[in-house]
Amino acid sequence: MDTNRQFAIITGASTGIGFELAKLCAQNGYDLLVAADDPAIHQAAQSFRALGAGVTVVQADLATIGGVDELYRAAAGRRVDALLANAGHGLGKAFLDQDFDAARHVIDTNITGTIYLIHKVGRDMRTANAGRILITGSIAGFMPGAFQAVYNGTKAFIDSFSFALRNELKDTNVTVTCLMPGPTETEFFERADLMDTKVGVDEKDDPAVVARDGFEAMQAGKADVVSGWKNKIQSSVANVTPNEMLAEQHRKMTEPGSAKNAKKAS
Ligand SMILES: NC(=O)c1ccc[n+]([C@@H]2O[C@H](COP(=O)([O-])OP(=O)(O)OC[C@H]3O[C@@H](n4cnc5c(N)ncnc54)[C@H](OP(=O)(O)O)[C@@H]3O)[C@@H](O)[C@H]2O)c1
Repeated sequence: MDTNRQFAIITGASTGIGFELAKLCAQNGYDLLVAADDPAIHQAAQSFRALGAGVTVVQADLATIGGVDELYRAAAGRRVDALLANAGHGLGKAFLDQDFDAARHVIDTNITGTIYLIHKVGRDMRTANAGRILITGSIAGFMPGAFQAVYNGTKAFIDSFSFALRNELKDTNVTVTCLMPGPTETEFFERADLMDTKVGVDEKDDPAVVARDGFEAMQAGKADVVSGWKNKIQSSVANVTPNEMLAEQHRKMTEPGSAKNAKKAS
């Protein structure tokens, strides 16, 4: 690897928003350490190499401490200029109907694995007094997520955590940015078993546009970015809407069978 290039770690880089974030990093002069759980990450790495980046790949379950340790070890002590903590997944259906291990995997990936990695890399950045951290939260963090209760809870945690960590680091040259997308056209909905819901079948944002918003906000050291004007309005309205009403609105998007309503309405 050419060590004059900057170095970025991107989690969840095999598909969707993370794939686009990794492409942007490669195009903007970063070497990459990319991670995901499935073998598809190796194929994605080939696309990043084609853009001129040196790429190291880790295939690991980032819901586990061992998986995050393996990823951190793969950086081999190289200074990390940017950490894009993006890996995450959802889980549809009513909480009491969910398999608890699956629900726990959402928490372990979106919260525990994410903040464990940030804890390790963030300490190094603080010591170097340099670095950028981009965390993929969600506008879902502003709403109690009926039929995605655990997922929305994890994103409320992540949105909040991101602003708090940013504040703690305000006297350093380490910046923390929270990317808050709305519904985006990725594998997220299929993986979360949400394809029979309104949000699953509705038109969604382009992951390349969402990633560009996040990357630019990270490079500029901004606190946060809500991607897309509709989502900006929705998140502003959510701030002044009672939680009970928000949960009811969420139900309309994520209740199993609500995909039929989406088709009738269009
Ligand atoms: N799509 C949306 O509407 C939306 C909206 C707001 C926020 N987000 C957030 O955006 C982020 C990216 O999601 P996406 O929409 O791009 O979905 P996606 O296409 O399903 O991508 C998710 C990525 O995260 C990886 N990942 C998930 N769990 C993992 C684990 N335990 N260990 C390692 N890698 C893991 C996946 O790799 P594997 O397939 O190998 O597991 C994949 O690379 C997530 O944090 C999600 O919560 C998405």
